[in-house]
Amino acid sequence: MKLTFNEPSLGGSIEVPGDKSISHRSIMFGALADGKTTIRHFLKGEDCLSTIDCFRKLGVQIDETEEEIIVHGKGWDGLKEPSAILDTGNSGTTTRLMLGILAGRPFHSVMIGDESIGKRPMDRVTVPLAAMGADIAGRDNGRFTPLSIRGRKLNTTEYKLPVASAQVKSAVMFAALQADGESVIIEPEATRDHTEKMIEQFGGKIRREGDRIIVQGGQTFKGTDVYVPGDISSAAFFMVAAAITPNSEVILENTGLNETRTGIIDVFKQMGADMTVEKTTKSGEEIGTITVKTSQLKGTEISGSIIPRLIDEIPVIALLATQAEGDTIIRDAEELKVKETNRIDTVVDELKKLGADIEATDDGMIIRGKSKLRGGSVSSHGDHRIGMVMAVASLITEGDVVLHDHEAIAVSYPEFFDHLQQLVK
Ligand code: S3P
Repeated sequence: MKLTFNEPSLGGSIEVPGDKSISHRSIMFGALADGKTTIRHFLKGEDCLSTIDCFRKLGVQIDETEEEIIVHGKGWDGLKEPSAILDTGNSGTTTRLMLGILAGRPFHSVMIGDESIGKRPMDRVTVPLAAMGADIAGRDNGRFTPLSIRGRKLNTTEYKLPVASAQVKSAVMFAALQADGESVIIEPEATRDHTEKMIEQFGGKIRREGDRIIVQGGQTFKGTDVYVPGDISSAAFFMVAAAITPNSEVILENTGLNETRTGIIDVFKQMGADMTVEKTTKSGEEIGTITVKTSQLKGTEISGSIIPRLIDEIPVIALLATQAEGDTIIRDAEELKVKETNRIDTVVDELKKLGADIEATDDGMIIRGKSKLRGGSVSSHGDHRIGMVMAVASLITEGDVVLHDHEAIAVSYPEFFDHLQQLVK
């Protein structure tokens, strides 16, 4: 796809699609609950559609209309042995969280994903689940898909996560919910807490004592109504687009502002961006409006406990940093190496092709600004977020950007190019 913009500016207001993490979890809890769950503003991206497809194969009725997804849950025992392989596509969240659910269900299932999923570590989930008694086999001693799960009765656990990962935390939580008694999960750094919030939204209980999350087993859930806020990880692309494109102002309405996800807002402040954030309502999750104008930016340092709060936004923050005066240093972000692609490598390689002064480090990157970007031929490498970074970069390049593999963007933001077109003046 060829991206040609002639001295663009951005203006107007959009509502980005529903949050990916919350959309997945709303299907999962809806399927495990008793009764009907109605989900509004669900993200119909490929990843979340994979979750729907897997639960349908597990015997759960899920209806789709233009406006809503309706899940007809029949409780934990409503899940039935699938006669087909569960295909999680490109979705790490589907694969890892489903492992926690299926480990405790009394039947056999087989899970596979795409080529990228086949390279992502699953032992970070299969090891703690095995310690709870799970029987999961997979390629390379259970490290990779395809995985075969023989569900059985699980024990409680006290598990200290070696990496700050909401997917691992959530998988262990789903397993713990099926054990008899109390489990404790300890996080090295706080990660997104949508699973915890949803347990409560579906009528369950969960306790947090410092860094200890306490999950009572044997809980059942009740179907409910869920409104999925706009995904701040998708809004991030237009936040950056507005900040780096001359004469721009973009308003992002109904965006999720959960504290465990708003690291990018802190970074925008640190870098001196012209931004306002206004909280509107709270319905289990914080929601608000983010407005960003063209900004004079300065470099910054991003490391430590903020990293899990902006892990998926680092590729687009790297682009932002190319337009800031001075150096931006990103540390403690090794986790980027095990995302849909090795995002340290893919973002550094692709931004370099457009003339950015950017260097990979062991646990992050260094970006030296401000640089004038030029057109070029780049690829998403099949990674939705890398594709969107390149599309946003094309707004400020001198010359066209040819983006290969742009289709990957449909994984999390099918309306991305429509929204971009809508905002470009
Ligand atoms: C997610 C957690 C994060 C994030 C991913 C979604 C989730 O992954 O990168 O896009 O929904 O729990 P990790 O848990 O591997 O950090």
